[in-house]
Amino acid sequence: MTRAILFVCLGNICRSPAAEAAVRALAPHLALDSAGTGAWHLGEPPYGPMQAAARRRGLDMSALRARQFQPDDFWKFDLIIAMDAENLANIERQRPENAQTEVRLFTDFCNTSETAIPDPYYSRDFDGALDLIMRCARGLVDQL
Ligand code: 4NP
Repeated sequence: MTRAILFVCLGNICRSPAAEAAVRALAPHLALDSAGTGAWHLGEPPYGPMQAAARRRGLDMSALRARQFQPDDFWKFDLIIAMDAENLANIERQRPENAQTEVRLFTDFCNTSETAIPDPYYSRDFDGALDLIMRCARGLVDQL
């Protein structure tokens, strides 16, 4: 049974903390965390506009702080969920020998033709990203 899940994006200030908060709201008993493959925002709270968009949907991301994905995460989580194919490839490049943890795309968990959560840091479409994140969160929790 999947208990500890890590959500991974690039900066860990938009998509993956929102995914963590969305899944936590649906399944508070799960051990959840998020991380970024990049190191630009270490220790920072989630991006202000993303927090504001999430807050309008009742999701509080304010306590989260950005950290970088590390190979050790393969041993700490039962499932690692990437926000896009680039994140997934980056994670897989860091897979330790013998680590069996599954790495999946978040969009695998909902009925969508999308294969990525579009990055709202660049698109500025925070609500569009959250729409998809919340659908994938529901799909994930339903499949656990
Ligand atoms: P995220 O968005 O991966 O959804 O957190 C980004 C945030 C910041 C940067 C890239 C993506 N950045 O390059 O600073």
